[in-house]
Amino acid sequence: MLLNTLVADPVAVFAEEVRAGLSGAGQKELPSKYLYDEIGSALFEVITLLPEYGLTRADESLLRLHSGEIAAGLSAPVVVAELGSGSGKKARWILQALARCQPTTYYPIEISHSALAMCERELDHIDRVSILGFETEYLDGLRRVVTRRRSGQHVLVLFLGSSIGNFDPGPAEEFLQHIRSLLVAGDALLLSTDLLKPVDRMVLAYDDPAGVTAAFNLNLLGRINRELEGDFDLCQFHHRALYNRLAQRIEMHLVPAARQSVRIHRADCEVVLEPDETIWTESSYKYSVQQVRQMAERAGFRCEKQWVYQEWPFALNLLAPD
Ligand code: AVJ
Repeated sequence: MLLNTLVADPVAVFAEEVRAGLSGAGQKELPSKYLYDEIGSALFEVITLLPEYGLTRADESLLRLHSGEIAAGLSAPVVVAELGSGSGKKARWILQALARCQPTTYYPIEISHSALAMCERELDHIDRVSILGFETEYLDGLRRVVTRRRSGQHVLVLFLGSSIGNFDPGPAEEFLQHIRSLLVAGDALLLSTDLLKPVDRMVLAYDDPAGVTAAFNLNLLGRINRELEGDFDLCQFHHRALYNRLAQRIEMHLVPAARQSVRIHRADCEVVLEPDETIWTESSYKYSVQQVRQMAERAGFRCEKQWVYQEWPFALNLLAPD
């Protein structure tokens, strides 16, 4: 049997998730992983440059400062698997530090075709680093990486950018547990997490005055129009970012300006949205360093190190299987 006969048609899966998220009473939702088509990935790259969005600069600074120490603490040979590589910029420091001691293989794992292409271009010419990308979901990709592991090789998993913050707390812990179950002694997980900070700074990071994040959010409706033959009128929606104090998360919503009736042909659905009915598109949880450590420990990791960036409170956490 051909392997690809087992792989579901990605457009059909997208259509089904959109249909499920928009139909029924109650809060409408769309999965944030669909924000990253070619336009969304390009807009996200711009977000990372915005003065209001401190996460990426904090992450990159911590990686630049501590890659040497991280690489020195792992025994060779090491293979690197990155969950959601994005443009690949963040992995550069750690790959260079590892490659100084040994040839290194880098496996970026990405569902976004355009992000993976960007990453392969970005990291093409690092000495002694070879790249093999997997265009698939995080855990499927990691499973394939560990299956290829040769004896004596150690796996360093990178989960950067505070993307863990897109998961609700229960699923986040299960996700970390799942990663843990694929690792053995000598492996490690490098996890980035955005930390709690004054509310106005957090909100501005997700509602920048230039409107880049608004465009990033609205593009999800544009993507549905393009790929699923929807007829959303993007001019009739506004971007909203709010901080949910109790849940410790930023939420991104799309808010209709007036009652909307939308047809999505390829999802075989018709949606009516009342003016006060938002579509929730993303959560970004914020943590204290203690909360990160506790979450890691509940998932079966030992927290070896937490480096904190002061200007934009953010943590780089080095976790080892317990
Ligand atoms: C890349 C998922 C971590 O949640 O901060 C940026 C995505 N959304 N601005 C985040 C995002 C709005 C980002 N992550």
